Amino acid sequence: MENAGLFAFASAADRQFRKKNSASSLMAAFGSFESTREIPIPRQPLEQIVGQDEAVRIAYIAAKQRRNLLLVGPPGTGKSLLAQAISFHLPRPTEEVNVLHNPETPERPLVEVRTLEQIEKEKRMMREVQGRLVTPQEVPAFVAERLGFACRRCGQMSSPRHPACQSCGGEKFLKEQAHSPFGDLVNPYFEDEGRQDRVHTTRLDPGGREEVVVYERADDRRVRVLDQAYLEKMDSLRKKTPRKTLAPISRRPFVVATGASETELLGDVRHDPYGGHPALGTPPYLRVVPGAVHEAHEGVLFIDEISALAYIQRFLLTAMQEKKYPIVGRNPHGAGASVKVENAPCDFLLIAASNINDIPNILPPLRSRILGNGYEVLLQTTMADSAQNRAKLAQFAAQEVRKDGRIPHFSRGGIEALIGEARRRAKTMDKTDAALTLRLRELSGIIRLAGDIAKISGKELADAKDVTLAVERGRSIEEQLTKRYGSLYKASMGDVGAAEPSEGKEVS
Ligand SMILES: Nc1ncnc2c1ncn2[C@@H]1O[C@H](COP(=O)(O)OP(=O)(O)OP(=O)(O)O)[C@@H](O)[C@H]1O
Ligand SMILES: [Mg+2]
Repeated sequence: MENAGLFAFASAADRQFRKKNSASSLMAAFGSFESTREIPIPRQPLEQIVGQDEAVRIAYIAAKQRRNLLLVGPPGTGKSLLAQAISFHLPRPTEEVNVLHNPETPERPLVEVRTLEQIEKEKRMMREVQGRLVTPQEVPAFVAERLGFACRRCGQMSSPRHPACQSCGGEKFLKEQAHSPFGDLVNPYFEDEGRQDRVHTTRLDPGGREEVVVYERADDRRVRVLDQAYLEKMDSLRKKTPRKTLAPISRRPFVVATGASETELLGDVRHDPYGGHPALGTPPYLRVVPGAVHEAHEGVLFIDEISALAYIQRFLLTAMQEKKYPIVGRNPHGAGASVKVENAPCDFLLIAASNINDIPNILPPLRSRILGNGYEVLLQTTMADSAQNRAKLAQFAAQEVRKDGRIPHFSRGGIEALIGEARRRAKTMDKTDAALTLRLRELSGIIRLAGDIAKISGKELADAKDVTLAVERGRSIEEQLTKRYGSLYKASMGDVGAAEPSEGKEVS
């Protein structure tokens, strides 16, 4: 796909301006900082990604234009970080997805998609059927008495929690059971007996017809009035088909699927030992479980190590194409097997990650779907050793310190040592001179170790010494072996030699 034309968004100039501004403030801070505390951290998650400028540029487009992405690169170069950051740039979901009970065929629950406006409207209706709230003075006197507001003797109002009138001291509640010799045994709380929570009455409407009015104690100071119209509305709302929400409107538009099973990706209908019996069992619509593809509707579906999905990739590409995928019971011996929810929506943006060696194991039709409506991006492993990129590494260290929350900031000396280590790693791991590594997970490991060392020794800032010690302690086992034996080969020979019986010794 041709990228160049798409960069011309109205907001691109804006972003460029902000980026320039934040880059210049970073450079200014980097020129004179004493500790990473002074280094500004950008607010936008995509701007916190260091050194992957091309990938970030494409990420903005993917979020804006809803394109798929295949991110390829070695571990710890920011693939997961990038996918998550993209989801912050997506608009909030506008649809809620539910399954409804289907009274005619319970095994075929129906899908209902509600927009934000519809949800708001129903909420408003629910609020309306809460009835009209009035003061106890506004309701008939006998209602105020029965609800526990008015004194039966003097008519003064007080909180229904007070059993005695605050003005004349008279008892507010009728002790009806007290007339019976067993009243207090039958109902030990007989004191409250005279105080009702609801009072049903009737009145004549303007047309002269009798209508029911219910008065309810709402709280200590108010009464809820439910007249005929409200009661009818409430009745119709209650009669609404019951539903189960698969994707709530307030969901986060980022779903990670490990690809561990078809169920995780495509959903399931749980088994019911009572076979969904109307009286004993759980109705089928309540047993429907959405898959990651359904939960990611309108958002990002992130799949790490996409090739590990193996044959499941085929289902994924159908879901991408159709933008809906049926939910069925996956256990053929379970009661869920007879249940099917057609047309469950799954319009997601796929972000898949892979390391270079696994590319051949990604299904060609799936790659074709990604390339046909998206981008394949190769992440960088190094960046040029320029002043700007060194400043970016300082920003990275500041971000990591903040993310960790338990380690101190770094001094200028500490950051210089870290930059030295980034330079060394670019040279040894990627055979690139005058460059800084972008295998940043490993570098963040060094930052944490150095931070721990500084913290344990009670320092306010982690310095160059702490970084050097952290690099020493943070060496991989291969590096440790090479250091001790000269090469990995010699190390392995040494190991074999030790395991074999030495000459002249008997083997037991
Ligand atoms: N380009 C980057 N900018 C900022 N931080 C980064 C970058 N790359 C990696 N990191 C740091 O390294 C951590 C790990 O990165 P991430 O999980 O995104 O790597 P990955 O490429 O998904 O690795 P894997 O292939 O192992 O899944 C991040 O949480 C972040 O702290
Ligand atoms: Mg990852």
